[in-house]
This record gives sequence, C-alpha cells and structure tokens, in this order.
Amino acid sequence: MENQKILVLNFGGQYDQLIARRVRECNVYCEVKPYTASLEEIRAFAPIGIIFTGGPDSVYAENSYHPADGIFELGIPILGICYGCQLLAHHLGGEVTEAQNDSSREYGKTVTFFDTSCALFRGLPETGISWMSHGDYMAKVPEDFRLVAHSEKCPNVAICDEEKKFYGVQFHPEVNHTENGTAMIRNFLYEVCGATGDWTMEDYMRRSIEEIRQKVGEGRVLLALSGGVDSSVCAALFAEAIGNQLTCVFVDHGLMRKDEGDEVENAFKKWDINFIRVDAKDRFLGKLAGVAEPEQKRKIIGEEFIRVFEEEGKKIGSVDYLAQGTIYPDVIESGKGDAATIKSHHNVGGLPDFVDFREIIEPLRLLFKDEVRQLGRELGLPEYLVTRQPFPGPGLAIRVIGEITETKLDMLREADFIFREEISKAGLEGTMNQYFAALTNMRSVGVMGDGRTYDYAVALRSVTTEDFMTADWTRIPYEVLDRVSNRIVNEVPHINRVLYDITSKPPATVEFE
Ligand code: XMP
Repeated sequence: MENQKILVLNFGGQYDQLIARRVRECNVYCEVKPYTASLEEIRAFAPIGIIFTGGPDSVYAENSYHPADGIFELGIPILGICYGCQLLAHHLGGEVTEAQNDSSREYGKTVTFFDTSCALFRGLPETGISWMSHGDYMAKVPEDFRLVAHSEKCPNVAICDEEKKFYGVQFHPEVNHTENGTAMIRNFLYEVCGATGDWTMEDYMRRSIEEIRQKVGEGRVLLALSGGVDSSVCAALFAEAIGNQLTCVFVDHGLMRKDEGDEVENAFKKWDINFIRVDAKDRFLGKLAGVAEPEQKRKIIGEEFIRVFEEEGKKIGSVDYLAQGTIYPDVIESGKGDAATIKSHHNVGGLPDFVDFREIIEPLRLLFKDEVRQLGRELGLPEYLVTRQPFPGPGLAIRVIGEITETKLDMLREADFIFREEISKAGLEGTMNQYFAALTNMRSVGVMGDGRTYDYAVALRSVTTEDFMTADWTRIPYEVLDRVSNRIVNEVPHINRVLYDITSKPPATVEFE
C-alpha cells in the first residue's frame, strides 16, 4: 500500500528541504516540488496536505510566484508559511501590502501569542518565540478566516479557515528558533490532514528490497563503493536484496584514514557478495609523486580512479544494472544553477561509461542524509560507517599540504586518529560536522627532552555547518585540544607542533587545499 504523502510547494524559499525533513521526522512521507507544478501533477501525486514555503517575492509584485489555478478548490488542506501565508491571503480575498517600519516588518525572534483553540496550536503553550522574516504584511485577513496568533508589533501572525482546512503562519515553524515549531507542523499533519505516521525506515527498507528484487530479477548489478555513507548504505541494501548478484568495486587508493579500508571491507563480510577491493596505493602514490598543486592532485586522482575502474570493468564485462547512492539533496541540487568553481570536487560513484549496462538504479534518491544513516542502521551496518563524516574523494591527498609521501601520510593518519579518538572520548561528535587533521608543509624548531627538533606542524580543523557552503569553526573545549596536542606530539614522531584553525568559511574553505 502506498504511503500517505505531503507535498511541499517551493516558492523560492531557502527552507524547502528543511520543511520536508521536519515532515518526515513526523513519520509522514513528503516531497518538494516547484511552485510551477500543474494541477494535474498535484492531483496525480495525491497528497493528504500541501505546504507552501516562503519565498523572496511579494505576492502583489508583477511576475511573482503563484500556485496552479484551482489549487484552493481541490479540497486538500494547505499550510502556508511566510510568503505561503500571504499567498492564502492574496488569493482568498485578503490583502497584502508592504509592511510599514513602525508596524509589522519583523525579522528574527519574536514573542508570539497563540490561540490554542486552533488545530495548529492545539496542546501547545499560549506564548512562545517564533522566527520571523517578512517585509510584507497581511493588511486584510480574508473573510471566513480567523486570526489565531499575534505579536506585539503585528496583529496578523497566523490565520485559519478551519472548515476548508487552510492555515497560514507568518513565521517559520520549520526552523529551530521557533519554539514548538515541529509540534505545529505535527499538528497540521495529524490534527488537520489525518496523517497516520506510516513513514518508517523499516518499512522503507522492506519495500526497497522487494522493489530491487523485482526489478533486477536474475540480473547482475555493479556498484562503485567509496566507503562513504551513501555508497555503503546503497551497497548494503543491494547486498540484502540480491546477495551475490551484486559486485562491489572498492578502490583503495591508499589515501584513506587509519584503518578505514579494512573497516569498509569488514562491514560487508556478513553478506555473500562479490567484493572486489583493488589495492591501488602504489599506482596512486606513483602518479602523485612530486605534485604539490591542489587542483593537479585532484585531477590526477580523478583520472586514476577512472583508469582503475576501467580495468576492473573490463574484467567484469557487461552487467545489467549500475547502482548509485544518489540521495535526495543531490537530486534537488542538480536542478539549481552553477556557482563559481572554487574547488573541483571529484566524487567517486560516477558513471564508468565503459561498463556495459542497461540502466542505473538509485534506491536512495528520495532520502535525506539522516534517513540514509537510519536505513544503514536498519540494515545492520556498523555505527562507524553509518555515522561517518563527509570525506573528500581525493582523501588525505588534499590534507597533506604540498608534496605527498608515504611517510607524511602515515604521520597524518596517526595524528588524525588521535584527534578523532579524543573527540569521541569527550562525546563531542554531535557538536561538529567535520573534523580532521591536516599536515602542513611547515617545519619549525622545537625542544624535546634536551634536544632541538626541526619537525612538522599538524593543523586541526573542525567545522560546524548546515550545508558546508558556509561553516563556522567549532569551539572545542581547551582541555580537549590540550589532550589532543599532548598526545600527538608525544605519540607521532616528527610532529612537534599542533595548530588549531580558527577561520570560518568564507573566507577560508573547509579543507586546506
Ligand atoms: P571545501 O573545502 O570546499 O569543502 O569548503 C566543502 C566540503 O566538500 C568536501 N570536499 C571534497 N569532496 N572531493 C570531494 O568529494 C573533493 O575534491 C573535495 N574537496 C572538498 C570537504 O571535505 C567538505 O565536506
């Protein structure tokens, strides 16, 4: 049986994916579509409710974004957020104008008063902080609608027509700054749309496995495994579904962190699949010898990857399907315009077009990262794989600054391992999104025992970020940094200095190269 679905119609706001995640956190399946979705498309999707996102426009402006004609006559409940709320007002007989300075333009945290007889706020406190970001104002609330929230400055913060099941809020319930925001979304889903909470990972896993079996039949599937979360979970799903009809090619380029290659291999021991680990360390290091320029390193590694796959592909011959761990944010992102290339990111898992195959299967394409991790747990993948932080395709090659040698890689691996171990012991993983060590090419003077040293400096980096486009450096407690520093200089030969990077992105980037 099909899941109940919520449709998020995106009007150009920045929180479309966040809204979708919140809905799924409430165990209701949900997809984002652009505001241009036609009425037929919406009908065919058959959502139990629709959420209009915010957007940068003014509803009264020429060329502003509007939903398909007839959407308000479908009999489907609607929750309008910010611009989405103003759309309700605009189309259903109210009036939206530019807010005057003294009245109702609001940005940031705002004390808000709620009418808890409205289904949206049922069971919640009458007062709370909500996150506002609007320059427009509902000057006139449409007839049949009632006002159900206000702030000190603005009388019209939330409206509803409970008979038609239309709800509008000026603030953003999806962001963390809004107190009880998720509970409001939950109320919309369960109290208004009649959600039953039928979206669970276990269920998703069972159905995906069934679908893969149906589709693949007796066929053969090839997957390029990078050891990252997405490709690992994808591999586990296929392993569970079709066992030894799956061939995984895992290229070990010798640029992984300590023990990582073995960890990946071990995680797949429990399945009877064709697991090919290509030990290509010497090839990669050979090609990289003497190369110091970051983009050149990336290029060499990218090309060498293709070569290795090409060779493996030839051995395998033709397969029926190629499996890929594309996830939902990648699918949505690919619809957006290109930004300037700061770094050329080479991602493993691309298309080896020399392998003969019929079709690509992407079973994770509807999942968010958190959900992919959850699915990995359901499939019994070890926690170290499921919670693995993002790791660049070129691996440690771009964390050894300048020229790469095996000795430098070994030093870096040890230092990085100590850093990660201490972060884990301090229970701080949840407070940072990516953390690692990089070996600088600076040598400096130190003193150890009675002797002078002239050795390398290692730099520690940790960032906290939502999307990796911007990032802040993590405020790691001094005691933890102190322990890491002590251990590194004591345990790793030829490192005599430890630096902590306190630059945000921008102007710096996450990686050093
Ligand atoms: P930057 O350094 O661009 O990093 O701020 C942002 C995120 O991208 C990762 N990164 C890469 N990932 N190939 C990848 O697959 C690359 O060449 C690459 N360079 C950076 C980085 O680890 C961070 O998560």
